[in-house]
Amino acid sequence: MPATSQLPFSRIGVIGAGAMGRGIAQLFASAGVPVLLYDTRADSLQQALAFNRELLERAAAKGTLSADALAATLHRLKAASSLDELAGCDLLIEAIVEDLDAKQALFAELEARVAADTVLASNTSSLSITRIAARCRHPERVAGFHFFNPAPLMRIVEVVRGQRTSAAVVTRLARLAEQAGHFPALSPDSPGFIVNHAGRAFSTEALRILGEGIASAAQIDRILRDTAGFRMGPFELLDLTGLDISHAVMESLYQQFYQDPRYAPSPLAAQRVAAGLLGRKSGEGFYRYQDGQQVREAEPRPEPVNLDRPFWLDSQDPELRHRVGLLLSQAGVVLESAETPSARAICLVTPLGEDASTCIDAQGLPTERSLALESFGELDRRRVLMRQPALDPRLEAQARQALGTDGVPVEVINDSPGFITQRVIASIVNLGCEIAQRGIASPLTLDRAVHLALGYPFGPLAFGEHFGTARILTILQGLQACYGEPRYRPSPWLRRRVQLDLPLHSPDAAE
Ligand code: NAI
Repeated sequence: MPATSQLPFSRIGVIGAGAMGRGIAQLFASAGVPVLLYDTRADSLQQALAFNRELLERAAAKGTLSADALAATLHRLKAASSLDELAGCDLLIEAIVEDLDAKQALFAELEARVAADTVLASNTSSLSITRIAARCRHPERVAGFHFFNPAPLMRIVEVVRGQRTSAAVVTRLARLAEQAGHFPALSPDSPGFIVNHAGRAFSTEALRILGEGIASAAQIDRILRDTAGFRMGPFELLDLTGLDISHAVMESLYQQFYQDPRYAPSPLAAQRVAAGLLGRKSGEGFYRYQDGQQVREAEPRPEPVNLDRPFWLDSQDPELRHRVGLLLSQAGVVLESAETPSARAICLVTPLGEDASTCIDAQGLPTERSLALESFGELDRRRVLMRQPALDPRLEAQARQALGTDGVPVEVINDSPGFITQRVIASIVNLGCEIAQRGIASPLTLDRAVHLALGYPFGPLAFGEHFGTARILTILQGLQACYGEPRYRPSPWLRRRVQLDLPLHSPDAAE
């Protein structure tokens, strides 16, 4: 633990003792800085102190915190009974209600009490730092310091530079964050900063897929968990956060970006919020909850059918052909090797960014016997088949059974350009590329911030490298062609790097 004298701030005031304020106060008290915590509600303040004490005592009981460190941390963490008591702090961090007027009013009150060089930071997650600072006498000392919940455990904080924030203030906050063990992700003042901006793609694209009736929420969650490595599906996450909160963030970003269709929220989400289907906290969202636990519904198990058809696969990829061939032979049916399918074959196509209908039409395949197999993500944990409107349901049942012969679950979804995994991953990569393009975060900061804050298996740009940047570009072009919407327009950052054969992490050479 660094000595207090080495830290860039000697005394920190935290205003607002709710979920965030109490965590921020605990983080810096643990890092060796004396902290004063203030709240207009005395009961909130006392609850926060009791909460922190209990957490720290539990850590001491488990042996992760020494008795001396426990005593010292508790000694450093004190309540302030008025704003006047914060006058001697050289850093004030507000974590009050998310309301521009309230934050501006608070900063005016603070400026009247503190020294001219005291840094004023806001933990806002959605308001503009520049606007919060706009009514301050010294806007150069105002910055964003955006933590994630729970602040002591989520080892990242966005350090946000408003239009007038001085570079020295950003540097001091970043040093403080590092010394407390957090990664400071530097960002200019931009809607959603880095993480809430980059995180939009996962949920909005999943809601769009749900809204189009392509698959159920549970299917989308299962597919994204098992084929792309997400710890939680988008609908589980929306239920955890609360759809009212998430939908408000989606609407706010959409408006702040002047209705760029990339950020379009879902009408479905608006309706579900109106119906009170908020998630865990209301007992029902995309899933049902009993005593705080999700009620798990068993996955549907289709009736066994007789397999009496050969299969044909459009892909020449030797590994995929080998795997599919092996599976089918286990199921007792053959994978044809001729260039064109026989008259009885069930035809499997493997589109990238196209829907099954387009792919089948382009190859001139029989519509009642053709469906698509997702070959983009992980195939060992879950497989995805995609029907199209003319598919014979009896042949769908055969394909589903044959491709699940080894016990790996098979999902069947409705027609979609880019299935589910392709379009969600491509949307995440594309938004990440836009963030890099606009200079909102450096490529490495972006990936690290998203990985730490959202727990994705990869950051957005690393996702692109993992799945292949040229394939991501193809998927986006397919989506754009299918829907004719600018929502899916590829970012220039992505297109140029594919064209010039550069990794997504490479900045412009001249920079
Ligand atoms: P909360 O509702 O748990 O706590 C807010 C606290 O501020 C309450 O105890 C309230 O009594 C107090 N308060 C309200 N107005 C005040 C004022 N004028 N002066 C002093 N105290 C006042 O809210 P939470 O979740 O802790 O959020 C606080 C801020 O942090 C918001 O700006 C929010 O957007 C942001 N944030 C929240 C995250 C979360 O996951 N909850 C994550 C990151 C940022």
